[in-house]
Amino acid sequence: MRFELTNNDFADRALRPLGYPDINIFMNHLYLALNIPNEILREPFTVHSFPTKRRHLLVPAIHLNFSILSLLNNLDLNILQAELFYSEPNFFSDIHTDYANNTNDISKINWLIYGENSLLNWYDTSANQHLRSISSAIDGNIYKGYNLNECTLIDSTDLCRPSLIQAGVPHNSVTRDEPRWSVSLTLFDRLTKQHAKFSDVASRFSQYIIQ
Ligand SMILES: [Fe+2]
Repeated sequence: MRFELTNNDFADRALRPLGYPDINIFMNHLYLALNIPNEILREPFTVHSFPTKRRHLLVPAIHLNFSILSLLNNLDLNILQAELFYSEPNFFSDIHTDYANNTNDISKINWLIYGENSLLNWYDTSANQHLRSISSAIDGNIYKGYNLNECTLIDSTDLCRPSLIQAGVPHNSVTRDEPRWSVSLTLFDRLTKQHAKFSDVASRFSQYIIQ
């Protein structure tokens, strides 16, 4: 069953943010595959509509699938930022955490385009000490980088379906024979008025989670 909301529902649920399913059942997840449209870019846009093989670009909302935007809106979620990442074949990206104000709980929904057999990996880091802070020239955000020698692999997914991912835990991507593009939406929670937390987003998408 999908959430079908009227304006009155929005007003009512804003007063009752616990109207979504219990968030505790999603606490230990780093990713959840979602049964939502595979096409995040709106026709006629494709990855080839963007400057060729740039590592990191921002994507204007007009390039995004309107049905996804509508779904997020219905679930009380806004898009803080839409990004396109490119990785060449046989690439092992830096292990890093994404940026957010004073939180290590950062929800993103990722769509993979090409990149067959590529992986998104998560790591535990010894002493949780980041090696360096990297300022992105694209969006001005700070990414914390980690030394591979101090990291232990804890989980991995091939992102073969659109997925909610936890970007606040150290992670990186690994490609095989194909180049890989990924579109990543960073989410803002209209109910809590802050970065959307993974468990809250999972709760709202509970009808769409692929078990
Ligand atoms: Fe990341």
